[in-house]
Amino acid sequence: MRIGTLTGGGDCPGLNAVIRGIVLQGEKEGYEIIGFKDGWLGVLENRWEKLTPENVEDIQREGGTILHTSRTNPFKEVEGFTRVKETIKTTGMDALIAIGGDDTLGVANRLYQKGIKTVGVPKTIDNDLSATDYTFGFDTATNIAVEAIDRLHTTARSHHRVMVVEIMGRHAGWITLEAGVGGGAHIILIPELPFHIEEVCRLLTKRKEEGKTYSIVAVAEGAKAARGSEFLSGEAVKKGEIDAFGNVYLKGIAQVLEAEIAKRTGIETRSVILGHLQRGGSPSAFDRFLATRFGVKAIELVKEEKFGQMASLRGTEIVSVPLKEAVGKRKLVPQKLYEETVINSR
Ligand code: F6P
Repeated sequence: MRIGTLTGGGDCPGLNAVIRGIVLQGEKEGYEIIGFKDGWLGVLENRWEKLTPENVEDIQREGGTILHTSRTNPFKEVEGFTRVKETIKTTGMDALIAIGGDDTLGVANRLYQKGIKTVGVPKTIDNDLSATDYTFGFDTATNIAVEAIDRLHTTARSHHRVMVVEIMGRHAGWITLEAGVGGGAHIILIPELPFHIEEVCRLLTKRKEEGKTYSIVAVAEGAKAARGSEFLSGEAVKKGEIDAFGNVYLKGIAQVLEAEIAKRTGIETRSVILGHLQRGGSPSAFDRFLATRFGVKAIELVKEEKFGQMASLRGTEIVSVPLKEAVGKRKLVPQKLYEETVINSR
């Protein structure tokens, strides 16, 4: 049996551990594994390499993806579906394991509905995929963000400043919430709960009046100002670039907040954007282990012919769920969880 695999969408610490899991478990089952280059683009262009236990040796320790990635959407390309079918035919591939987030798995699901044998592995640092408790990459990204916040405390304290730190999370504030709580940010702003700039500034001024000489504001890149607030956020930071899945490239809310806070409170303010630092580098032990388990499960799904399914973490168990459940809706931070855990805003 010949099985193809690919990594699509943003890279994510742990991708290589999944690839290694697929190859080593595949070898045990006597399967041949081929890896497509640059996500769905490699499938469209029939570009791939054979993956053997030798060329995946120890790659679980490395960040990024040895297969490279892209945000290509085959359904947006001319003759996209026909080209995918052509590649499947010429490679003699029996099944395809797609490793990715909402967009990549959405393509895998559409292909499955059109008769292609696909299975999925959930990936995103944002942790916003439904039907799994955690995605790999999230733990690593959160640890990087928490370390950054730890470091910002000392410089903010030394200068009596407000430091605004922008953290990844387009639609969901999971990284910002967990890193913000763990790192002791004084204000945490996430996309799920639109904020009022007046309230942010009131809290910062109150802290100063109480003798608290500095403050940290953790803001998710996708955080938005509440309706009715004259302050612009989301719209102001759109860069205008839109990918093949319709995602807008977001960047800069921290800078907008920096200027607005300084203007309204008179407190010296600085900002930092963590950006892709959160996605680069070695995965945490948690992510290496979870990703390995997902890779092994993906091979099991192929063996059991459970196509249209995705590996998923439920509690401590790796189970399978229909791909359509994963791509149907986003897993967002519940307001209740935010209210229970954000106990430092005062
Ligand atoms: O979806 C993961 C993610 O890291 C988001 O948090 C972020 O908005 C986006 O990818 C950035 O994508 P790119 O690497 O294309 O700039």
